[in-house]
Amino acid sequence: EFCKGVNGLDKVILRESRGSSAEVYLYGAHVTSWKNDHGEELLFLSSKAVFKPPKAIRGGIPICFPQFGGLGTLDQHGFARNRLWSIDDDPPPFPTNTLSKAFVDLILKTSEEDSKNWPHNFEYRLRIALGPGGDLMLTSRIRNTNSEGKPFSFTFAYHTYFSVSDISEVRVEGLETLDYLDNLQNKERFTEQGDALTFESEVDKIYLSTPTKIAIIDHEKKRTFVVRKDGLPDAVVWNPWDKKAKAMADFGDDEYKHMLCVEAAAIEKPITLKPGEEWKGRLELSAVPSSYCSGQ
Ligand code: BG6
Repeated sequence: EFCKGVNGLDKVILRESRGSSAEVYLYGAHVTSWKNDHGEELLFLSSKAVFKPPKAIRGGIPICFPQFGGLGTLDQHGFARNRLWSIDDDPPPFPTNTLSKAFVDLILKTSEEDSKNWPHNFEYRLRIALGPGGDLMLTSRIRNTNSEGKPFSFTFAYHTYFSVSDISEVRVEGLETLDYLDNLQNKERFTEQGDALTFESEVDKIYLSTPTKIAIIDHEKKRTFVVRKDGLPDAVVWNPWDKKAKAMADFGDDEYKHMLCVEAAAIEKPITLKPGEEWKGRLELSAVPSSYCSGQ
């Protein structure tokens, strides 16, 4: 279903027969909403989000490509989140997601403007699908279409903003004892302690070589988000907390209490593609009542 979103921007609404839904803006191929079959919103979207190019939308799932973060020649988090994507009418077959009837295929290619800063030809195909149980699945396929034998490298993240009832009641399981780079301490490398992560101040860490499954447990809502990922070894955990929240124009002062970013990513070791090669990175999100997960 196609319609106009905020400021007349094009968006696609996906609806699954049991009632779950998702909304995707063509601007940024940005998922801004994911609701379960009770109509409850599962993603955080700032009340101050700016839906106006070239600003990226604050919340949902921004795509960071071809550069995660600000270390590199490109603007922070690359340009994919600030470009108008197209509907991919003729996508090559996706082996997975075949059960889903609610999906959209989007495509982004090299533009003249982007090739000035990133001189490579690429085709980025993104399928966004809702599974029968309301799971949200994003599959990225990025192909090097350079003609002159030139490889390219990129870093990547699905910058997912989860909606949580109260950040101080949230636990993240799956990242304990892992090494991470701390963005708040010059990207120095540390090792996480053995307990599930909890939150009481600003956090901006890149966990390395993470498992394919990470759980975000929201006690108050009795809900657990399960993040499953493939091709994405790293995981960023970010919450700006109060001071940084105040400094961001497109983020409410107290909104940090109600969000947590857990981002499936490939950062430490950039992905390199030779001409003709394709990389695939998959994210699958589910939201389940916490009791389902006890003992896991
Ligand atoms: C996170 C980064 O992924 O994104 C943070 O680790 C950054 O350092 C945050 O502040 C938000 O970035 P932006 O560009 O959307 O404000």
